[in-house]
Amino acid sequence: MSSELKALSMAETGHALRHFWALEPSMHFLNHGSFGATPRYVLAAQHHWRERLERQPVRFMVEELPVELGLLRARLAIFVGTTAERLAMVENSTAGVNAVLRSIKWRDGDEIVLADHAYASVRNTVRFLAERHGLQVRLAPIEFPLSGPESMLEAYWSAITPRTRLVIVDHIFSSLAVRSPVAEIVAVCQPLGVQVLVDGAHAPGLLPLALDTLGADWYVGNCHKWLLAPKGSAFVQVSASALTDLHPAVISNFHDRGFPLEFDWQGTRDYSAWLAVAAALDFVEAMGASRYRQVLRDQAAAAAALLSQRWGVALPAPAEMFCGMVTLPLPGDEAPTEENAKRWHDRLWSQHRIEVPVLAFNQKLWLRISAQVYNDLSDVEALARAVHPAAAV
Ligand SMILES: Cc1ncc(COP(=O)(O)O)c(C=O)c1O
Repeated sequence: MSSELKALSMAETGHALRHFWALEPSMHFLNHGSFGATPRYVLAAQHHWRERLERQPVRFMVEELPVELGLLRARLAIFVGTTAERLAMVENSTAGVNAVLRSIKWRDGDEIVLADHAYASVRNTVRFLAERHGLQVRLAPIEFPLSGPESMLEAYWSAITPRTRLVIVDHIFSSLAVRSPVAEIVAVCQPLGVQVLVDGAHAPGLLPLALDTLGADWYVGNCHKWLLAPKGSAFVQVSASALTDLHPAVISNFHDRGFPLEFDWQGTRDYSAWLAVAAALDFVEAMGASRYRQVLRDQAAAAAALLSQRWGVALPAPAEMFCGMVTLPLPGDEAPTEENAKRWHDRLWSQHRIEVPVLAFNQKLWLRISAQVYNDLSDVEALARAVHPAAAV
């Protein structure tokens, strides 16, 4: 282990770790969730891969890249509980979801079930395909505030019909920040012959994954959020039965090579983000993957407790359903419009140097707070005061 990573493994969490990232020192960065933030150590590794390519581009692309990608897939597979043969790299979760949805040979009248709070790019891809293939889309209505995982299970169950071909489940909802009971949903769908695609964009790094055991037909996850890898790194994992007919959204030279090699080459592009996933795993493993998850969970819980007490708002779901992020109602009764959400966001940034998403849905304005090891409670204190200066301390 490098001396830099040794220092990391021994360091306390909080602002003492900020120098591992290039983040502007003066800001309160409470939005790791949207795009991640990549440590300098990982960016340096990515730079190293780019240099290695440019030393002899043909040798690298033709001979070295396939070998290195095989090694990377093998390592990442262990981390997420599958094997290299069942794991392919993609640029992001959106590309992974597109690969799956555009590989399925749809039949007229097939139905797709997904949550009303599913991520926008996934909803759009489903709508695009529904228009072209005559598919029916059924939305599972997720209540929020949420009483518990049972109500989510019930929401999916209520949307399934005898014509349901596919259920898409968000492992962690982007706007709601809660995890869903994926294993239970897979268990309900499998006996019915309904296939399951899990959109796990936020899960790698935040949740321990045992993907082969989970048994979904496809699982898509980002490395560039909570695994701290460079932007443009994600994966799709596939069950043994769905292995033979999965193709990347971009069909390229290796089209006839089969899964997962077909995904290893998607035209001439910068593959350094994928290769630097190994450095991101080094970084997370230096902190201890389970310690890292626990710190994020504890920090999110502490933020939720502090803000709900100061603002006098209730946690909108059972505490154990949040992991690393928490969504809370903005105090007050401002109209839940996109304009008001943007105004709040821009004010928090320009006046307080707080970066945090403000969302408008379910007749309310909400804030989604991300926890990360480079944060400490003073970032949350700053948010508490900025939103509600008069609140008692
Ligand atoms: C649940 C969910 N799905 C998909 C995505 C899309 O991820 P990406 O932009 O990496 O494709 C996101 C992004 O935040 C997300 O939260």
